[in-house]
Amino acid sequence: MKPDDILKFSLADFTYNDSDEVLSPPEDFETWIEDPRVQMAMSFFEQPLEEAPTPRTTIERGISGESRDMINLTSYNYLGLSTHPEVVEAAVEAVEEYGVGASGAAMLSGTFDQHIRFAEEIAEFKGRDDCMLYPSGYAGNLGAIQALLQRGDVLVIDDKCHRSVVDGAQLAGARLASFRHNDPESLDAMLQRYEDKRRLVVVEGVYSMDGDLADLPSLLEVCEHHEVPVYIDEAHSSLVFGEHGKGVAEHFGVSDRIGVDFGTLSKAFGGIGGFVCADEDIIRYMKCYASPFQFSCALPPPIVAAMRKSLEVATRDSSLRDKLWDNVEQFRTNLEALNLDLGESESQVIPIIVGSSGQQLMELALAAQQRGLYLQPIDFPAVEAHGRRFRISVSAQLTEEDIDEACNIIEDTIAKPLNSG
Ligand SMILES: Cc1ncc(COP(=O)(O)O)c(C=O)c1O
Repeated sequence: MKPDDILKFSLADFTYNDSDEVLSPPEDFETWIEDPRVQMAMSFFEQPLEEAPTPRTTIERGISGESRDMINLTSYNYLGLSTHPEVVEAAVEAVEEYGVGASGAAMLSGTFDQHIRFAEEIAEFKGRDDCMLYPSGYAGNLGAIQALLQRGDVLVIDDKCHRSVVDGAQLAGARLASFRHNDPESLDAMLQRYEDKRRLVVVEGVYSMDGDLADLPSLLEVCEHHEVPVYIDEAHSSLVFGEHGKGVAEHFGVSDRIGVDFGTLSKAFGGIGGFVCADEDIIRYMKCYASPFQFSCALPPPIVAAMRKSLEVATRDSSLRDKLWDNVEQFRTNLEALNLDLGESESQVIPIIVGSSGQQLMELALAAQQRGLYLQPIDFPAVEAHGRRFRISVSAQLTEEDIDEACNIIEDTIAKPLNSG
């Protein structure tokens, strides 16, 4: 690889390893990743936080090589529950009672009273028959889709769905077919193409890279016409959307038309884990065949105890959600005044779309981080090559001053260079 060619490549180019040795990475990858320009881009990843993922946090060895306080717009701690005093207290009490880990898979010794209660509480919250828990959201999508589908079936997904959904189809051995983002005609054509197959449609409540919502009313109409069930990934919308925080399905008033309701505990809940809600008979079946449920250790009981408290705190009234939406409003108003491309976001996930230059994205990210704003660049192939971006995760914990300060830094380090170029 010639030095001039380095920036023509991306992480998308090295998935095929052409070296003879399994334990050797591809030679071209080594040349590429060791180039100082790529190293600069890689230095944004895995910067260690020294404190909780709150709006004001400290990054060890930040981008300038020293530990510094930052305004954090990157964590998914949308409601601030990760450090909520009642949630922390519930975790601490449970550590003292149960120890740290579950020490077993859920089917054997890994299910505790905490897991049973929490699954009941989540099912009740979502208005579903039953719920099963997974060690992570990723494992939840993987396991549920694997258990629901088999060779010969077709998983029909919105083309902006998360990697865990794609990997689920692969684990199931099912064919993967995607329709154009939020496009009912494209969905209709795809369901038509595979009309003789068993099909499942997957959409996300809030799309994680764009912050827009699934157009459930029109997509559901198509699915119902074809009599195909819908699986919704409410990773970024559970506890955030809807009158009671149940998600985007509640927001549109269509919860009873959804077959499977999936969520993670790693976003608004402030912890880790995944959950899948559906009818009792299919949950019972999935428990027997979802490998990430069967062959992985169950969630640690203290995490489950903390997540029970997160659910209680977030649903006892709407105050945290109200504060989040006030913050989203303030952020959006400030950013719109800066003439930035915010895509179609309708949620607490707000992209700032920069365009097709990876180098420019990294230069802007460097400038923002050097000014103390922890805002991560999202590069191709995580997003389309022409849609490289920053992604803001708004949190209820941000103060008005935090938002104003963050927007001033965005104006100086991102908006001005973009608008002048
Ligand atoms: C839409 C979506 N689904 C699933 C997941 C996986 O969840 P987790 O990170 O909790 O494993 C994510 C994570 O970012 C996501 O954005």
